[in-house]
Amino acid sequence: MKQITMLAVAILLAMGLSAAPAFAGSDMNPCNPCAMKQKINPCNPCSMKKKMNPCNPCSMKKSMNPCNPCSMKKSMNPCNPCSMKPVKGQWGTPGNQSIRPHAFDNFQQAAAYGKKLWSDEKLGTSGVACLSCHGDYELLHLKRNQNFPHFVKMVGDVVTLDQMINYCMLNPMKGKAFDKDSKELTAMAAYYRAYRMQYRKDHSK
Ligand code: HEC
Repeated sequence: MKQITMLAVAILLAMGLSAAPAFAGSDMNPCNPCAMKQKINPCNPCSMKKKMNPCNPCSMKKSMNPCNPCSMKKSMNPCNPCSMKPVKGQWGTPGNQSIRPHAFDNFQQAAAYGKKLWSDEKLGTSGVACLSCHGDYELLHLKRNQNFPHFVKMVGDVVTLDQMINYCMLNPMKGKAFDKDSKELTAMAAYYRAYRMQYRKDHSK
């Protein structure tokens, strides 16, 4: 008899407990992230104030946040391409892609090659050289002291120096445009810079 009573109690208890899953999908179930009001749900990253939410990368000070690439010293950050030091005696940095085979060791070399090209009447097919029109700083408007890109009337557009050089190659020179990564285009731009520096020297007195 005693055993039967125990069994009955156990059954009653089990029935009582089976009421618990009744709130499984309800608003009060702490395991259901949708259940609570968004504002008090600790799993909802939007619920806390930005400043207190540890999951928000903006919550920490930049300098303390390990996920912020700016937090490390530049020289220690492996993701910062500036942290690599070029190896002396080698072209570029090992492992990096190059834009072309090595061409110049210094600016003067590039400008000297550029000067040759600016003077070359065979560079295009019209029989003139760049310096045929631009000798004595003509038509370059160096007095305006503008950096590229800027508006050029003849082009009717804003152009970079490289684009301007190629425009004059195609039109007055009736030649071919230089490849953007070519040592020729670098040399042409280098001579333009050297020419401009010379102009400033000549006109500073
Ligand atoms: C037949 C004459 C002629 C030849 C040759 C010529 N150019 Fe030009 N160039 C011009 C004219 C005209 C302008 C535009 C002036 C303007 O619109 O203000 C110009 C503009 C330029 C400019 C821009 C000047 C600015 O306003 O900043 C550059 C740079 C330039 N030329 C470089 C070259 C180079 C490099 C070559 C040779 C590949 C060359 N030019 C050949 C006539 C020439």
